[in-house]
Amino acid sequence: MTSHSGKRNLISILDLTSDEIVEIFLSARELKKRKEPKSTLKGKVLGMVFQKPSTRTRVSFEVAMYQLGGYALFLNAQDLQLSRGEAIGDTAKNLSRYVDGIVVRAYQHQDVVELAKESTIPVINGLSDLLHPCQVLADIFTIAEKKGILSRLSSKELSGIEVAFVGDGNNVANSWINGTARLGMKLVISTPPGYEPDKKVLGEGVKLAKATGADIKVSHKPEEAVEKADVIYTDVWVSMGMEKEREERLKVFKPYQVNGRLIGKAKKDVLVMHCLPAHRGEEITDEVLDGPNSIVFDQAENRLHVQKAILEFLMG
Ligand code: CP
Ligand code: NVA
Repeated sequence: MTSHSGKRNLISILDLTSDEIVEIFLSARELKKRKEPKSTLKGKVLGMVFQKPSTRTRVSFEVAMYQLGGYALFLNAQDLQLSRGEAIGDTAKNLSRYVDGIVVRAYQHQDVVELAKESTIPVINGLSDLLHPCQVLADIFTIAEKKGILSRLSSKELSGIEVAFVGDGNNVANSWINGTARLGMKLVISTPPGYEPDKKVLGEGVKLAKATGADIKVSHKPEEAVEKADVIYTDVWVSMGMEKEREERLKVFKPYQVNGRLIGKAKKDVLVMHCLPAHRGEEITDEVLDGPNSIVFDQAENRLHVQKAILEFLMG
């Protein structure tokens, strides 16, 4: 069992320093090249508490544990006593006696924070209503890979890259603020008025940007936002848990669709990214998602490699 003295969590990208992020990326690069399984997490068990559906996060974490010689235990929150009102803190204390690390996907970010606080083992945020750190770490790794800078990676190499996030100022957008602020990158988030990213996350990001040289802006003009971008990123307009707002959101977000017309305003070699699942025909058209600028499935694959590096970093 992992000793809990000095245990680390990954609740937000800001839990990592820029040097640690680079270390994780370099390790992910080695893990990606490697064909044979490893045994760095032999005998270790990852508990995976999921309150919401998942394809990529669940499968990539399970496969990652297997390929590192450990075991992953999927725990649908509906089947836990959590669903009958057991306190999240008590769940954390119990799981800490059985497993060596926890990935949690929760509706309320506060639940992730509480679980981490009461656990004596590392806790990884596998998405909350506020943040999706593992996603954006894999995304930045993917950009570095596509731009050919992985072999000489430092946060300096990333600083010239500009990302335009077009759509909802949601959990993924908030993690983009954390990631770019930490690594000194450029970010424009283009949302409809009223759908900007979380104020506190943005405030902290802008403050941190002063120290790291990042440039973080919010705009309501998607066409301007993509003009100088190296990457156009989008995500669903209706995140899990927001289904009641669907009709209203579909109307408000329409001008923010990532389609051929918007791509036409960007650089010819702009990379198009989406964390997936995509709602084809809503936030992104088939033409763009399946088009030559899209790297969405390489991006999805990299969840596996980067998470293996994260697991070794936290649980190894
Ligand atoms: N991108 C992502 O986290 O996908 P899942 O919801 O399928 O895990
Ligand atoms: N913003 C989306 C991301 C899904 C991976 C959601 O929270 O549903």
